[in-house]
Amino acid sequence: MKNITNLLPIKYPIIQAGMVWVSGGKLAAASANAGILGVIGAGSMKPELLKEHILKAQSLTKHPERLAVNVPLLYEKSLEQFQMALDLGIKIFITSAGSPKTYTSWLKSCGAIVIHVTSSPELARKCEAAGCDAIIAEGFEAGGHNGRDELTTMVLIPQVTDAVKIPVIAAGGIIDGRGMAAAFCLGAQGVQMGTRFVASLESSAHENFRKAIIHSTPSSTMLVMKKHVPVRLLKNKFYEGIKKLEDEGASEEKLIQELGKGRARQGMLEGNLEEGELEIGQGCSMVRKVQSVEEIVNEVVNDYQKIIKGA
Ligand SMILES: Cc1cc2nc3c(=O)[nH]c(=O)nc-3n(C[C@H](O)[C@H](O)[C@H](O)COP(=O)(O)O)c2cc1C
Repeated sequence: MKNITNLLPIKYPIIQAGMVWVSGGKLAAASANAGILGVIGAGSMKPELLKEHILKAQSLTKHPERLAVNVPLLYEKSLEQFQMALDLGIKIFITSAGSPKTYTSWLKSCGAIVIHVTSSPELARKCEAAGCDAIIAEGFEAGGHNGRDELTTMVLIPQVTDAVKIPVIAAGGIIDGRGMAAAFCLGAQGVQMGTRFVASLESSAHENFRKAIIHSTPSSTMLVMKKHVPVRLLKNKFYEGIKKLEDEGASEEKLIQELGKGRARQGMLEGNLEEGELEIGQGCSMVRKVQSVEEIVNEVVNDYQKIIKGA
């Protein structure tokens, strides 16, 4: 079966997702060392901080070619982030939350590989037309920001693989070898996993957040901010506050004002489980222990191989 290891310099067709407040240089380096793509999530970083994380990751791995940066395009400093990363030798970019037309041709002219995150077949076609090398198709199960159409991974992947010729990487709800095998059956050539790596030893997620994942149940997450920027969260006091405002029909301005600033940092990085925002996917209740990235990758790959051999 063709897979994404033909395009990316990795051993296994797995991408450790770029995640705000969670995927810094340490996690990315551990991922590169384990044979997968290690992605630094630049969404929560000023360009100078991104530089520190790239340099840290490069110092912790013998496989700097397996390091990538995720740049959400909504961020006003995204161009500076790209330039900083290119200057430091990063050659793989995962772009999200914006139009694939904005930077793809320029990044390609700088010699980079560009993968854009999509949540619909229509956007996947736009990524292909913009010259992206591959697509990450992310279903509604995923942690973090979600597509408006609520397409689940199970229905999204086959429709995206039918819609485009470039490789499709599946994301959303993939936690173990079973999920990876299913994604390949649906036509994907690789998987991106976020939630599973939040609970890794090397992630920057606060210990309280990791413990909350380990003790989560299948009904622990819910999507909020549906009309504005849909995001899947672990239910807590912060979530209840947003939900109440939404039920009351609050405007976007009111929601933003009541949310205040810095809630994601407070929750995910600083471990405030009550007042902080905790982005996580539906698959969190399948994560039952905190493991090293190497253990996670070996477990996922071994289970996947057993499944495809019919063992
Ligand atoms: C804590 C957290 C933060 C995330 N931050 C980002 C981000 O900054 N940019 C982005 O493109 N996706 C982000 N995502 C989505 C992931 O990149 C990935 O696509 C998703 O986690 C895959 O689904 P899963 O969580 O079910 O594995 C985030 C996800 C989580 C759980």
